[in-house]
Amino acid sequence: MEVAVTAALPGSALDRLAARAQVRVRRERTRLDPVALADFVGEADAAITLLADPVTGDVLASCPKLRIVANYAVGVDNIDLEAARARGVWVTNTPDVLTEATADLAWTLILGITRRVLEGDAMMREGCFEGWRPDLLLGTGLQGKTLGIIGYGRIGRAVARRGIAFGMEIATLARPGRTRTDPPARLLPLEELLAASDVLSLHCPLTPGTRHLLDEAHLRLLPRGAFVINTARGPVIDEAALARTLADGHLAGAALDVYENEPEVHPGLLRRNDVLLMPHAGSATVETRSAMADLAVANVEAVLVGKEPPTPVVRGKAPGSKGRE
Ligand code: DGY
Repeated sequence: MEVAVTAALPGSALDRLAARAQVRVRRERTRLDPVALADFVGEADAAITLLADPVTGDVLASCPKLRIVANYAVGVDNIDLEAARARGVWVTNTPDVLTEATADLAWTLILGITRRVLEGDAMMREGCFEGWRPDLLLGTGLQGKTLGIIGYGRIGRAVARRGIAFGMEIATLARPGRTRTDPPARLLPLEELLAASDVLSLHCPLTPGTRHLLDEAHLRLLPRGAFVINTARGPVIDEAALARTLADGHLAGAALDVYENEPEVHPGLLRRNDVLLMPHAGSATVETRSAMADLAVANVEAVLVGKEPPTPVVRGKAPGSKGRE
């Protein structure tokens, strides 16, 4: 059995896998386009892919032996799920193990932007701190304010739990059939949710329905002085519109871990004190990234021995089957 892995992964999971399968790890750090990805995966039985690897229908069609694409991420927007389904290829992701780390980073961003940590750090390094003053670097308090959360899945709920500990009111989207949530949140239609959110944090997957969910009209429904936090996927926000709503003072700040055209950042966001930027590091702890590798490998191992993988997103050929006919 051959497994193609598009990057070296933290931890020892790949070493364990190498004891059972032939493991090919890509060492270059350049991004793969579909042709290069198909070329790299080639005749492999399984692929472990990163969130920016474009697993298109053509890639799947070019890799005839592929039985599983184990994405090293919870998001699977880089994969043509319909094409995988049609071809009987399993797709798996890495949920749960990254929930707390990502929620921690969302809260790092919330606290960092509302308490102006970037500006304080720059002030200290530039030797501009002249002593305590009553009006120095006033930020925004969170207690009693509303934290709006779009995407009340594992990560959204973990962010809500932290929000409750910080004394915030939690609100999320009303949905058909959703009568209450754990932790408890006010359930509001999108427009009302936006209008109520002093801080809005995004935790939804990127789908055709969530692309540019925060366009200019929706950004302007947020209260003047609101903050936007994104640790989900960049294209959920129209970055040009975000830059405009910050520039004209409608929003008080934005803190982003993900970008519309990653790894690029809209130039209108780059040189602003009211924007805090991180390089897609929501799950970036040693513990979490190792656990993600363990889970990706566990998914591959299961499929290669004909078992159901632990965290399927798309069900492939039935366990026991030896790939496509
Ligand atoms: C994911 O898993 O989808 C994150 O964006 C990276 O861990």
